[in-house]
Amino acid sequence: MKMIVAIIRTEKLSDVLEVLYRANVRGLTVTQVQGHGGEIGNVETYRGVTVKMELHEKTRIEIGVSDAFAERTARAIMDSARTGEVGDGKVFVLPVDKVFRIRTGETDEEAVTPPGT
Ligand SMILES: Nc1ncnc2c1ncn2[C@@H]1O[C@H](COP(=O)(O)OP(=O)(O)OP(=O)(O)O)[C@@H](O)[C@H]1O
Ligand SMILES: [Mg+2]
Repeated sequence: MKMIVAIIRTEKLSDVLEVLYRANVRGLTVTQVQGHGGEIGNVETYRGVTVKMELHEKTRIEIGVSDAFAERTARAIMDSARTGEVGDGKVFVLPVDKVFRIRTGETDEEAVTPPGT
C-alpha cells in the first residue's frame, strides 16, 4: 500500500476531488495547511538574522491506496491540480506498512478497497 500526500492550491481542490472520484478513488482526508516551496518569500533582516517569513495557504490531501492505484492516483492529482505557474504543489508517495478497516478488521488492500466492491 501507499499513502499519497498531495499539497495543492486550495482553489484546485474541487477539480481534484472530481477527477479522483471519476478515477474511482474513494477514501481521503483533506486538511488546510500552510507551507512554502522553493521560491524566496519576504525576507526580513532583524539584527543581522535573515528570516524567510512568507507562508502560503495550501490544501493537503492524503489518500491511502493499493500499489496498483498509486500511479494513477498521483497522475490524476497532477493533471487536475496543475496551472503551470510556480506554487502548484507536490505529490509525495509514501510506503505504508499496514492498513486496518476498523469496522470489519479487514487489512491492507482489502481495507483500502471500498466496502462491498
Ligand atoms: N519539499 C517539500 N516538503 C514538504 N512540503 C513541500 C515541499 N515543497 C513544497 N511543499 C509544499 O507545497 C506547497 C507548494 O510548493 P511549490 O509548488 O511552491 O513547490 P516548488 O518546489 O517551489 O515548485 P514550483 O517551482 O512549481 O513553485 C508549499 O507551500 C508547501 O506547503
Ligand atoms: Mg514554488
